[in-house]
Amino acid sequence: MNRNELKATRNSRFLKTLFLLVSTVATLTATNTGASERQSSTEAPAGFDNMTNGLVLQDQFDADKAAFEERELISDGLGPVYNAQSCAECHQNPVTGAISQVCEIRSGHFDGRDFIEHPGGSLIHSRAINAAIQERVLNGYEIRTFRTSLNTLGDGFVEAISDETLIEIAQRQPGESRGRIAGEVIRVPVLEAGGALRVGRFGWKNQHASLVSFCADAYLNEMGITSPLLPVENTSNDASVAAYDTVPDPENNGEDVEKFASFIRATKAPPIDEVLVQLLRPDPARCCSARLVVLFVTDRILSRLPLGQ
Ligand code: HEC
Repeated sequence: MNRNELKATRNSRFLKTLFLLVSTVATLTATNTGASERQSSTEAPAGFDNMTNGLVLQDQFDADKAAFEERELISDGLGPVYNAQSCAECHQNPVTGAISQVCEIRSGHFDGRDFIEHPGGSLIHSRAINAAIQERVLNGYEIRTFRTSLNTLGDGFVEAISDETLIEIAQRQPGESRGRIAGEVIRVPVLEAGGALRVGRFGWKNQHASLVSFCADAYLNEMGITSPLLPVENTSNDASVAAYDTVPDPENNGEDVEKFASFIRATKAPPIDEVLVQLLRPDPARCCSARLVVLFVTDRILSRLPLGQ
């Protein structure tokens, strides 16, 4: 390599390094601008305090919360197959409506091309009102997975987001995350709107777009209680449970479903965990020191390899 080639190589390395540093500064600046823009929007009321977010009066919130916590019995329509006796059994930590360690089991079979649900549906109910109809995972259904309970606090604010906003966020994601995140928008039927489609936003698979729909679904699939929007009982591994079902369908007239949705809509969002924020998001001081490091390194490079040499 002659002297001129050496200089050209050094200059090109220098330019590459400078480009990387400038991109780093640009990224840091963009991240900070994004954060301050987000902070300027109005935050939802937050708190684990069992208080209404203001959508309904506290008395109604307390009554709706009591319905969410109520333990149902066989005479109320519980089962015949079910997972728990009350919504709050799985949505309780640290307050009613929140999360828990309770997981549900889903199962199916993959034939090399398609996923085939377990007989009776992929959800395998953990309990039954009679041992004879206890569901189990049958042989040949090798896909088995646990799904944890989700938080419902503040979900009214999620329900209020327009389809357009969610679509726009999904479209921006690949660019903003350099291809690492690409949210998939799906449209799902809203049961109380005669099956009209809306962008899904609740559940692990975005399977619902409204809280009334999710609550009717949970009443049936978690507790075995039918209501006008979902009036047909589940089976036990695809076998009818009619012989064990003593309450005529729909077992609830739909009032409870409305109460659950009203409760969730009036909950406050979970408060921001400041300890976690400090761990995940660099504070301004750390951000500035990162910039100083960049300037320092740039200075070192410039002093060693002056432009034009
Ligand atoms: C046995 C535990 C259990 C019970 C009981 C239960 N849930 Fe859930 N809940 C879950 C699990 C697990 C999920 C996630 C389900 C999924 O997406 O597969 C969930 C998700 C939800 C969601 C969606 C939250 C979100 O932000 O995506 C709502 C709303 C909800 N449940 C409401 C209810 C209501 C209302 C009841 C009572 C009728 C109820 N749940 C009873 C375990 C339970």
